[in-house]
Amino acid sequence: MNNKLWGGRFEKETDPLVEKFTSSIDFDKKLYNHDIIGSMAHARMLSKCGIISKEDAALIIKGLLEIKLEIEDGNFEFKPRLEDIHMHIESRLAEKIGPVAGKLHTARSRNDQVALDMHLYVKEKISQVVKLLDNLCKSLWGLAEKHLDTAMPGYTHLQIAQPVTLGYHMKAYFYMFERDKERFIDAGKRSDAMPLGACALAGTTLPVDREYTKELLGFSKVYENTMDAVSDRDFVMEFLSCASILMVHLSRISEEIILWASSEFDFAELDDAFATGSSIMPQKKNPDVLELIRGKSGRVFGNLMAMLAVMKGLPLAYNRDMQEDKEILFDTADTICACLEILPRVLLSMKFKKENMAKSLDESFADATYYAEYLVKKGMPFRKAHEVVGNMVKYCIKNNKKLKDLTVMELKNFTDDFEEDLNFGKISVINNM
Ligand code: ARG
Repeated sequence: MNNKLWGGRFEKETDPLVEKFTSSIDFDKKLYNHDIIGSMAHARMLSKCGIISKEDAALIIKGLLEIKLEIEDGNFEFKPRLEDIHMHIESRLAEKIGPVAGKLHTARSRNDQVALDMHLYVKEKISQVVKLLDNLCKSLWGLAEKHLDTAMPGYTHLQIAQPVTLGYHMKAYFYMFERDKERFIDAGKRSDAMPLGACALAGTTLPVDREYTKELLGFSKVYENTMDAVSDRDFVMEFLSCASILMVHLSRISEEIILWASSEFDFAELDDAFATGSSIMPQKKNPDVLELIRGKSGRVFGNLMAMLAVMKGLPLAYNRDMQEDKEILFDTADTICACLEILPRVLLSMKFKKENMAKSLDESFADATYYAEYLVKKGMPFRKAHEVVGNMVKYCIKNNKKLKDLTVMELKNFTDDFEEDLNFGKISVINNM
């Protein structure tokens, strides 16, 4: 006899190495609250459908609430031999209320139970991430509005291209993160399906009411197909995909600010509270927070790859491989929340060096396209205008001048189309959106 909850058909005890190897309690204890909420709803449904008595359901629910408090107060003993959070809660319930505890698992399997817990977790994390993204977007917009007139060079190939404003630059990031928010909200719609009632894979002959459980747990639909309900981890993969795209954006803005804070660019200075020093070089002020955001993108992408690889060869329905989803998901959720929490603080506390941005613009040929478009307005074909201004830039480089230093007389050597109406010296920010 094996004394596990599933030990009936076994003649030997489980090898301790197997217990250690298969145990997930170290990480899935994070799901204790989701598990208890799911179990309470399940018990209420069983009693509503007459599968267990009202008294038994009440006893089960009371026991579950006590277990929740025990866990939260640190008075709950976790034991690797009990495998996972589901087994822990059920066996503690049995200790507390006796054989009635055994009724809770009626018309349920750990397969639909763990699927439910994961759905509840993902839904909760999505709403947390959406709030954090909302805050980041508000911070970016606020910053942008303060810098609508702060001219700076815009780059392509990390070479100065055309004049923009810091406000416009920040709004580019605002729109990226707005899309991230929409992506998470959209993923939330697909994670909003209730798997309970699927049991192991094929549903149950007992007269359950899945719609009722769905209502109790606040889902908008139940899974149509029970095999799909226990095999589906698309909602996890989708969360990880959205998280990966988000990390691309977080990494890009971090990289950009790292560049701006370098002495070579010198466009910005990080606040002391959000920078770190060097243990050897006294002069250093390092952008470690931003570097870590950039670096953490690696683990989030890795987690997505890991999850895709876990799922890609699995036949229907549940396979234990799927237990690997948890650390991947939890790590990703914790990582993106931590990054989203800190980035707005870094952004709002940093100082932008407007004069250096203006100087860099002033010393560049960022106005070249402006000159070319001036000629186009005079009727010159764009390709020709490009060539004319290209020659002007060549001339300026040779003679150590900038385009705006050229007088109309000098400009007329390149083409007669230049006239007094040229807006000399004015760095025009050409964003027209
Ligand atoms: N700890 C398991 C997991 O995370 C729970 C489901 C176990 N089901 C089973 N049939 N062994 O996937």
